Amino acid sequence: PPYDLDAEKRQAALKATEFVRDGMVVGLGTGTTSKHLILALGERVCAGLKIQAVPTSHDTAALARQSGIPLIESDNAWMIDVAIDGADQVDPALNLVKGGGGALLKEKIVAAAAKQFIVMVDHTKLVPGLGGSFPLPIEVVPFGWGSTARNIEQVSGGKAVLRERNGTVFQTEAGHVILDLHMPKIADPATLEIELNQIPGIVETGLFIGRTSMLIVGHAQGVDVTHA
Ligand code: A5P
Repeated sequence: PPYDLDAEKRQAALKATEFVRDGMVVGLGTGTTSKHLILALGERVCAGLKIQAVPTSHDTAALARQSGIPLIESDNAWMIDVAIDGADQVDPALNLVKGGGGALLKEKIVAAAAKQFIVMVDHTKLVPGLGGSFPLPIEVVPFGWGSTARNIEQVSGGKAVLRERNGTVFQTEAGHVILDLHMPKIADPATLEIELNQIPGIVETGLFIGRTSMLIVGHAQGVDVTHA
């Protein structure tokens, strides 16, 4: 059947807003699902909800401002009550692959600073195992990226491809590049994360292991909420 994935994302995002209450500091994710979240939160702010937000990208910051959501502009230690974000893949243990939009570094920093991390996805993001259909985004410093890619391939057995957009090398907001690691099913994501983080030049990987507190999945009939 022709699924309406945007409607599924919107339903998941609307459900996520129910967990945002007065006085909270909210981490705002990046991507099409997070856009629905920001618009819905903006409406509640206009109706009187008092929150402050930490954005995970320039796009998210711009949309939040337009929507009337007050942003915390300081980088001093945040007290984030809940971070809410999308994902590219979710496995049965609620581990994630993120970074399809290239915002994985800020997204992970914000998730790690939050007491609660809520993930919203349409049903197509659910996978029996990470990897395979979606390559794992890895943010690396531009210096020596080719050698870093070779080390990544040796550790993982996969193929690391420098991300390009419109014929030029994609740059992250922090001035890094992204290597998209194509590999078959990631059998042990937690171990791969540890091994990758030992390679010099890697800034962060798109693996989010054991961070999800709640998963909200939109599907044709409504939403499913799973607590970790
Ligand atoms: C951004 O870098 C990603 O981690 C996004 O969170 C992810 O790609 C999900 O995006 P959509 O909500 O657009 O599917």
